[in-house]
Amino acid sequence: AIRKAMVAGNWKMNGSIELVKDMSDAINSIKSPEIDVILFPPFPLVSAMIASGVITGAQTVSENTPGAFTGEVDAQLLKDLGVNYALVGHSERRSIYNESSDVIADKFARAQSAGLIPVLCVGESEAEQESGQTEHVVAAQIDAVIKKLGVAALKDSVIAYEPVWAIGTGKTASPEQAQAVHKFIRDKIASLDSDLAQGLTILYGGSVNEKNSELLFAQPDIDGGLIGGASLKAASFVAICNSAK
Ligand code: G3H
Repeated sequence: AIRKAMVAGNWKMNGSIELVKDMSDAINSIKSPEIDVILFPPFPLVSAMIASGVITGAQTVSENTPGAFTGEVDAQLLKDLGVNYALVGHSERRSIYNESSDVIADKFARAQSAGLIPVLCVGESEAEQESGQTEHVVAAQIDAVIKKLGVAALKDSVIAYEPVWAIGTGKTASPEQAQAVHKFIRDKIASLDSDLAQGLTILYGGSVNEKNSELLFAQPDIDGGLIGGASLKAASFVAICNSAK
């Protein structure tokens, strides 16, 4: 493959000190130059995850620089701790916490200026999919970043396509369905910067498990996965990682 495979586990508001230990032992035992494995634990587990030797990401970051923002977490502080990635615009942040594409672009910028690699999550709802809006919705979510920061900002970033109807539902997109959207995303960015688009890692997320991962990851424009539920079980997550090699 032209792009290195990546498998990222998003623990959401789950996990424990014990799980950091079990999961890091499992991941460290399959370390390989062929694949980047990243875990996104809740904030209180970030330091333990880093100490365990696993590449670590944050599930969100503040769009602001340090100041009076009670409860928020600064990207630079995360970087200083040893965090390498940050999710921005996960569908749960968009829908439950009402984060707009505009604020998500600001979070993307702040993560990047602090030296974190933003993982921009995009994807359409079930109603949008049923009414044929998928490409329109995904394009608008990406354009919010491009319009504010320029296409060059996507160079040191990752895009995760996660159809909302597939997240935590057990209803995954078919490999062909996911590939079509990934190709749409890559072609759209290629129309602005072809080299950047060819080098861009685009992950698929939404009910990925050890049974469906291999066929998804075999698609030419799917470079790996963003795994929710199955990243909480060492055996499943390791099997998914191995299927990306
Ligand atoms: O960030 C991960 C996604 O929301 C996917 O979650 O694998 O549990 O469907 P899931």
